[in-house]
Amino acid sequence: MIYLTIKLIHIFSVFIYGGFLFTDNLFLSKIKNHLTKEEHTKTRELFMQYVRKVVPKSLIIAVASGIYLFYINFGIIDESGLSNFQILLGIKGFLGLWLGLRGVLQVFFGIQPLLFKSHLFPFILVIAIIFLSQVMFGL
Ligand code: HEM
Repeated sequence: MIYLTIKLIHIFSVFIYGGFLFTDNLFLSKIKNHLTKEEHTKTRELFMQYVRKVVPKSLIIAVASGIYLFYINFGIIDESGLSNFQILLGIKGFLGLWLGLRGVLQVFFGIQPLLFKSHLFPFILVIAIIFLSQVMFGL
């Protein structure tokens, strides 16, 4: 029951964080073409004002719940080395932690990312993480 609850929390928090990245990259980026520079800056700032209230917290919850899920799922490393599942889960966890660290540094400490500054990069990472989360159990 605890596992299921944490897994649901993980899925919903990921849903909010990923949903923001999908909206920003696929839809909000397009309205730029229909607005003046000032209008676009103002619209985006308004949008981000609401995003900042929810999305960074969701990312932290996604990472914290992910660490718990990782702890339960990873298992013992066999003498013959890491299994395919452990390798893929390790990559997924690493990418998730990277996103989490990047988000926390940016939002709570005002430290802007050194690499891949746009929202396109986290968007691509989220797609990769979702893909890994689905194939890791099957390989
Ligand atoms: C923003 C980052 C993250 C995203 C987008 C994400 C996304 C997902 C998704 C979509 C699932 C599949 C759920 C399902 O099919 O039922 C999942 C499961 C999982 N995630 Fe994450 N995750 C993130 C961060 C993390 C982190 C940082 C870790 C570990 C350190 C982690 C560990 C896990 C584990 C172990 C599962 C498998 C749970 C299970 O199926 O029982 N995740 N994640």
